[in-house]
Amino acid sequence: MKLVITHSYEESAALCAEIMNEVFRKKPDALMGLATGSTPVPVYEKMVEAHRAGTVDYSKARSINLDEYIGLAGSDPNSYLYFMRTNLFDRVGMSLHNVWIPDGMKPVEEELARLNGYLDSHEMEIQLLSVGTNGHIGFNEPDDVFYDKYHAVDLTEETRRSNSRLFSSIEEVPRAAITMGIGGIMRAKQIAFLATGGEKLRAMKAVLEKGNVTPKVQGTVLKLHRDCTIFLDRALAQQI
Ligand code: GLP
Repeated sequence: MKLVITHSYEESAALCAEIMNEVFRKKPDALMGLATGSTPVPVYEKMVEAHRAGTVDYSKARSINLDEYIGLAGSDPNSYLYFMRTNLFDRVGMSLHNVWIPDGMKPVEEELARLNGYLDSHEMEIQLLSVGTNGHIGFNEPDDVFYDKYHAVDLTEETRRSNSRLFSSIEEVPRAAITMGIGGIMRAKQIAFLATGGEKLRAMKAVLEKGNVTPKVQGTVLKLHRDCTIFLDRALAQQI
């Protein structure tokens, strides 16, 4: 794991975006793993800026997303497909034929087979990642084990509460999701990971401390990845 401490979150996002851009300058049809949540939004903004400036072309990019809520259609503004379309896909001319993202309305087993089939037969060049307050990556919640493949999960109360800020009330937050497993994330050739804000302090302490790789804080598994760069702004890093 490589730790990069930046002056600001904006700088973290710019550096992360530049890593993504570099991958696509070399290989315009590379497969990237993508994340949702507020944290990666400025990274997508910078990627869109670079695409518009003509310094990189994302129109042939292929992507696979970490997760999706079960029960939300892609037309729902809280779905992760909607998020990805409005923050990145539609803005850089990516074709939905090149996008793999769980469909929260399809039979779960069918979706798991579709996504696992794709991931098992394609190499992911880079995975963009952030972390939940309880240390989850994707929607891999604290558990006794690490899962290899895409699977269905029950969301913890902490995650539902934390994500409820984007819904009108906590009752509207789905109780389950489909997520890529830790095995899928770890097989990415490269990982660009960023976090910001005091509410991520507990998770980031666990991720950065020596040893202690535990499924109770799933993000700690990143210590075992051979090419993972973590971007933290000074404001968060100095509390750790
Ligand atoms: C969701 C996503 C995670 C993300 C987390 C943190 O739970 N499944 O992939 O890392 O939110 O989101 P935020 O960046 O908004 O704090």
